[in-house]
Amino acid sequence: MRLSLTLVICMCLLSSVLGNTSLCANRCLIAYDNTLPCQCNDACPNYGNCCSDFFSVGCDTAATSSCYDRCLVPYDAALPCQCNDQCSSFGNCCSDFNNANCPSVHSGGSGGALTLTEFAEDLWSSDTNRISSSRYSYNRGTYISNTGDKVDRSSGDLFTYFDQSILNGATFAPFYDLLDNYITSEGVAESFTAAENAEIDTFLDAIFATTVMGKTTSYLMAEGLVTSESDLRSKMETMWFSSYKRQTSGDSSGFEHCFLGEWKSSTAVNGFHNWIQFYKEENEGDINYFGYVEEANPNLISLQFSWGSSSRVKTITSMMFGASPEFEMAMFTTCFLKHKNARCNFTLDGSSVAIQTYDMSSNTNQVGSAYFAV
Ligand SMILES: *[C@@H]1O[C@H](CO)[C@@H](O)[C@H](O)[C@H]1NC(C)=O
Ligand SMILES: *[C@@H]1O[C@H](CO)[C@@H](O)[C@H](O)[C@H]1NC(C)=O
Repeated sequence: MRLSLTLVICMCLLSSVLGNTSLCANRCLIAYDNTLPCQCNDACPNYGNCCSDFFSVGCDTAATSSCYDRCLVPYDAALPCQCNDQCSSFGNCCSDFNNANCPSVHSGGSGGALTLTEFAEDLWSSDTNRISSSRYSYNRGTYISNTGDKVDRSSGDLFTYFDQSILNGATFAPFYDLLDNYITSEGVAESFTAAENAEIDTFLDAIFATTVMGKTTSYLMAEGLVTSESDLRSKMETMWFSSYKRQTSGDSSGFEHCFLGEWKSSTAVNGFHNWIQFYKEENEGDINYFGYVEEANPNLISLQFSWGSSSRVKTITSMMFGASPEFEMAMFTTCFLKHKNARCNFTLDGSSVAIQTYDMSSNTNQVGSAYFAV
């Protein structure tokens, strides 16, 4: 009797400290936890898995009036309070600035800046636009042991299902709009209409509105690699969207090479490291999937395919299923600025990964290539 009474008191104390996990009271913005019956984070309305009191206890507005998961996010005049490292001197920090541990995040917890892994893991958990694996499926087909053979060993397509509404996403739609702005063959100079240049601006506007790019700006500022958001944006315009020469003047760019890929010759493909572009080209009947070389966590695959004609083969490339355009732009940009022409090592979702970047020439800050080294 005494024992069970103690147990009941303990359970009550415990639930009053942690909050009732079937409710959002005192739990707004707590990170997604699949062991719980319902969620209180700011993504739950999109997934339809919020607890019943999510709106009545104000979790929907907590994201803008709390520093939970917003430490280091740059100043934003549209928000009622701030969580950046200057809010203390301006007196406009959110009331939970200290409780959300922003001061220790700003100092890297141990007096230094965030490590690349701490930054990358934070970006991974902040990427609310990443596509859940229930919205696409694929058949990896046959394992390719020798990429030099260039033989189609898989009868089917890579993608077996793709939810078309993915392409309506806030950053996916403007990304998709860019994919028809380029001439696939190297050796033919690109030209861009005013409308196509405006699409680049729209895409950059969309990604810079995300938490992922906000955190990237803060991290790169703390690392001394950019001076402001507009500095980062202008560096990214040069890195990704300014044209350069592969075979003829102005026939290529970092964005075209990495995200779309290019026909190098009648037998070879250059670049091509993005899953949305792969889906688009396969769906349009322009890709023949040969097979996979390796799969790795999280959501990474390396594979072989032909593009445009059966003899034009990409012997091996890697891509990340589900990746949002802003997440890839953020990580590739960060690795290029930090460890250009090298492997950039970190973990994502607890797994070791690496991004390899190259510049186009040693005197330009243009991306020659960037991809997950799988
Ligand atoms: C938690 O809340 C749910 C829903 O209101 C209720 O059914 C349950 O009894 C509560 N649990 C505790 C331990 O208070
Ligand atoms: C990343 O790890 C590889 C070994 O796998 C090493 O060669 C490389 O130098 C590392 N990169 C950096 C920037 O330290």
